[in-house]
Amino acid sequence: MDGNGRWAERRCLPRAAGHSRGAEAVRRVVEQAPGLGITTLTMYAFSSDNWSRPRAEVDALMALFRHTLHAEAVRCIREGVRLTVIGRRDRLGGALLRSIDDTEVATQEGARLHLRLAVDYSGRHSISSGEVGPDVDLLVRTGGEQRLSDFLLWESAYAEILFEPRLWPDYTGADLARAVAWFRARNRKFGGLGQYRITNEKAGNVPHVRGDRWLR
Ligand code: FPP
Repeated sequence: MDGNGRWAERRCLPRAAGHSRGAEAVRRVVEQAPGLGITTLTMYAFSSDNWSRPRAEVDALMALFRHTLHAEAVRCIREGVRLTVIGRRDRLGGALLRSIDDTEVATQEGARLHLRLAVDYSGRHSISSGEVGPDVDLLVRTGGEQRLSDFLLWESAYAEILFEPRLWPDYTGADLARAVAWFRARNRKFGGLGQYRITNEKAGNVPHVRGDRWLR
């Protein structure tokens, strides 16, 4: 979700305003995801290296996470979204931790989409602590940057990676639909010869193709 700061700076707004607009983009994308066949969606909300940002920006982000969790819990329950948070918890404030716990419990029955928010997340740290998840199918980075920035390093071993120039606050459900269409047209080879080409038509008929766990 890169580009919040630039989105705000281009409008002479404080960076926190970009993060707020970024939270609206999160809602748009979460609404669209199940309809596109996405079953698990992981969003990089705060990296362990983001603690080095100015205190005011960090505080604004933590307040935004707390507020958004609180405000969106009911919608998540209604829409069948199970929300969990990945990353370290030992450096988060008590109020945010309570919001995370409450939201995780309240949404635990959600079966349409598993939304994972990465907060105080470091791919290297999760590898060294043995806390890795299922393989990533599609990784989208917005904001024109072409690097992984310590996100899901282990899980992205065979991810299809899409670098998207659009700034995150401008990202829409249509952008996500285009990304998924691009992914479905990729020839995933996993080091082999790529015998099976995954397309919209064929994906359901190739049950043994690896890496299809996050996208139906
Ligand atoms: C990176 O853009 C973005 C972040 C560090 C924060 C992402 C957080 C949100 C989108 C809010 C989401 C809220 C919830 C509850 C998930 P940047 O600030 O590095 O942008 P820049 O590269 O333009 O400076």
